[in-house]
Amino acid sequence: MPGPLLYLSRRLPDKVMEAISERFTLTSVPQAAPPGRPDLLAGIRNAEFAICTLTEQVDEDILAAAPRLRAIANYAVGYNNIDITAARARGIVVTNTPDVLTDATADLTWALLLAAARRVVEGDRLVRGGGWSGWEPTQLLGVEVSGKTLGIVGMGRIGRAVARRADGFGMEVLYSRRTDGASRPPDAPGRQVPLADLLARSDFVSLHVPLLPDTHHLIGAAEFARMRPSAILLNTSRGPVVDEAALVEALRDGRLAGAGLDVYEREPEIQPGLREIPQVVLLPHLGSATLATRVRMGMLCVENVVAVLEDRPAPNRVA
Ligand code: DGY
Repeated sequence: MPGPLLYLSRRLPDKVMEAISERFTLTSVPQAAPPGRPDLLAGIRNAEFAICTLTEQVDEDILAAAPRLRAIANYAVGYNNIDITAARARGIVVTNTPDVLTDATADLTWALLLAAARRVVEGDRLVRGGGWSGWEPTQLLGVEVSGKTLGIVGMGRIGRAVARRADGFGMEVLYSRRTDGASRPPDAPGRQVPLADLLARSDFVSLHVPLLPDTHHLIGAAEFARMRPSAILLNTSRGPVVDEAALVEALRDGRLAGAGLDVYEREPEIQPGLREIPQVVLLPHLGSATLATRVRMGMLCVENVVAVLEDRPAPNRVA
C-alpha cells in the first residue's frame, strides 16, 4: 500500500533511502545536486512530509504552496534555511539533527586546525606538483599547536566536543557564549570570557554559533583587529557568521596568520581573493561528512517524520 506523500530534496545514503521508501511515497526523484526552486515547489506542493537539506531555502512562499505539509525534517543541525516563524504560524513541525553529527564536526574542526597550523595542504601541493627536492631545515614552517590557547565561540554541543579534544594537546581553552550571564554549560571545559578577551588571547579561534540575525558577521573587521596577527580562524558553523571580505583583507594585510574554513557566506561561491591566499585551508562543507554520521542524520529525519505521522511528539522539534 502506498504510504503518505513525502518530498525528499536530495538523494541520501542508501540505508536512509530504504527506510524512507518503507513508510512513504516520494513526490520527487531526488538527485545528489540541489533541486532548483521550480522542482522544490513542484515536489513539496502535495506532500504531507518533507526532508530537506541546508541548501533548500524553505521560505514563506514555499510553505504557502504546500497546504498539506505537516512536518519538515531538516537534514542538518542548523536550520537557518527554513523560515521557522512562517512554519510555526502554519502549524508545521520543523525538526533538525542534533547530537548525531557532533563528533564528526568536531573532528573536522580539528582537521582544519591542524592542517592550517602545520601547512598540510601546502605540503601536499608541493609533493604532488613535483616541486619537492628533499628535506629542508626551514621549509613550510608552521606553528605549534600543543600548549597554545584555543578560543571557542559558542559553547553548544559541537563547541564542547571541540574543546574536549584540546585536552590531548595540553591547550588552554577559553570560550564565549552569546548568553554571557547564563550558567556554565554542563561539562564545558575551559574558562568563559567575553568575546573581546577571547579574540585577544587565543592562538586559534573556532566558531560554533548558529546563524541568527545577531550572529551574522559576528566576526568582521573590528574582531580581526582584536585578534593576534599569529592567530588562525576556524569556521565549521555557518559562512555568514564571518564577514569574508574583511577576512580576506585581514589575511592579506598580515593581521591574521591563517584560516581553516568549511563553510562560506554564499556557498558554493568563494569570496574573491580567498583561493589565492596560501595559508587558508578551504573545504567544501564537510563537517558531518562521514557515512555513519550521514546515515544517522537520515535515520533521525525519518524518526521525526514518522513521529508526526503517528501523532507522537517529534524528538528533535525546533518549531
Ligand atoms: C549541519 O548539520 O548544520 C551541517 O552544516 C550539515 O553538515
